[in-house]
Amino acid sequence: MARITRSVDFSLKGYLLQAYLIGRNASGTDSPIKGELIKFNKGLGSHGNRSKSGMVAAIMADSAKLTLDGNEYELPIVVGSENEKAIDIGKLRAESGYVTIDGGYKNTGACYSSITYLDGEQGILRYRGYAIEDLAEKAEFLEVAYLIIYGTLPTPTEYDTFKKDIRRHSIIHEDMRHFFDGFPSSGHPMSILSSMVCSLSAYYPDSLDADPTDDLQITRLLSKIRTIVAFGYKKSIGHPAMYPRNDLSYCGNFMHMMFANPAEPYEPDPEIVKAINTLLILHADHEQNCSTSTVRLVGSSNANLYAAVSAGILALWGPLHGGANQAVIEMLQEIQDSGGDYKGFMEKVKDKSSGVRLMGFGHRVYKNYDPRAKVLKAMADKLLPHLKVEDPLLDIAKNLEAIALEDPYFVQRNLYPNVDFYSGIVYRALGIPVNMFTVMFALGRLPGWIGQWREMMQDPGRKIGRPRQIYTGENARAFVSLADR
Ligand code: CMC
Repeated sequence: MARITRSVDFSLKGYLLQAYLIGRNASGTDSPIKGELIKFNKGLGSHGNRSKSGMVAAIMADSAKLTLDGNEYELPIVVGSENEKAIDIGKLRAESGYVTIDGGYKNTGACYSSITYLDGEQGILRYRGYAIEDLAEKAEFLEVAYLIIYGTLPTPTEYDTFKKDIRRHSIIHEDMRHFFDGFPSSGHPMSILSSMVCSLSAYYPDSLDADPTDDLQITRLLSKIRTIVAFGYKKSIGHPAMYPRNDLSYCGNFMHMMFANPAEPYEPDPEIVKAINTLLILHADHEQNCSTSTVRLVGSSNANLYAAVSAGILALWGPLHGGANQAVIEMLQEIQDSGGDYKGFMEKVKDKSSGVRLMGFGHRVYKNYDPRAKVLKAMADKLLPHLKVEDPLLDIAKNLEAIALEDPYFVQRNLYPNVDFYSGIVYRALGIPVNMFTVMFALGRLPGWIGQWREMMQDPGRKIGRPRQIYTGENARAFVSLADR
């Protein structure tokens, strides 16, 4: 029987240790407060002041005791900069022979990270300390991308250089353009996106090195992904590809490649560009979710950035993850097509035997209203009238939400709207086809995947990701030859 005890006053210790962190950052000297610094994450990049991203990620503070088969093991306790606590089991198997098991990694911290802080109970989301609400309202997507990847908001000079680098790489290799001819026009854009991103590594063999200090592969990817997405869309509707216009902003250029055609002039609507900018910021990172963990896992083998991101795109595709935005609209459409009986639909959701879920609701980490969903709901209310779009699906969504926020089934399980509940309504209003919603999510999440990959690759203690298992199969048995079976 295993027993874990610990006797640390976390709130007090956390407070003191925070003071220690600040003291260390400011003066660069050690503090006498008990607790051992366990990680310094130095930003190694070459771009401007990126080294400022280096910060103390966590410290070791006291320990927990685990009793197993009569032996006592001391397990270090680590505390993050927001007082998040963990028991470090890094030496557990070597010392005791035991591993831990945690289906879905619900209790497992896989890394230290200084990129995103998420408090699911309070509904707080911050990138590098900045509130998502502030960034969504005041920042440009590329500023946020820089922040996530390199650790600080760029200075004007750094931002100019970053944008210039990104602009320069907007065109894809002409041979790659022919790939789109090989895909069926009905092919799902996520499969095309993943294949195309992976094939960038064939065109840029220098990226095979998986070097996190090589900014070129990062800017290339940030720039070309828009072109890939837009070319794929144009191909699917039988329109000629629109080449990028580098005089436009990042989001404006994307809109141009998506919606312009060679026969007419096109200037992107600033309100639409702003909306796309905000949507991308809201999706830019979300700490160790399924796709980001996939990027880290693939990257941990030293596979190149494009391969790791391509794998992340595929993980995002699933309807329990980024694919939920498409699933939400399909669900709302189905309710509308069957006469708009949203109350009856909610009864089905609560009946577990139906297997029906309220898509866009619930989250592994948020047990409160997803702050991104709040921004998106307000955006839908403002943007749809501006675009003169009346979408009956928005009313259905609001009705479903109103029921869910009162219904004990949802209240008891802390199920609230997540980022995908309203994003699809906004994408629809912007003219983005439903099967491209998850592609838009990927476009937004790219800086997060890159930043998390880069952080991992710069971690001097990095190890290949390789979980253990508890084997439940047959014990050793003799081989039976084919004739005797
Ligand atoms: N509709 C109905 N019941 C739900 C829902 C839902 N959307 N989500 C969770 N539940 C119930 C679930 O049946 C379970 O009930 P019980 O305790 O009686 O067995 C309880 O709530 C806990 O659910 P869970 O599946 O154990 O929770 P999880 O943390 O493993 O899953 C989730 C999280 C997001 C996969 C899940 O809430 C879900 O399937 N939601 C719908 C899909 C969705 O919107 N996904 C987008 C997530 S946000 C974007 C992103 O970052 O990917």
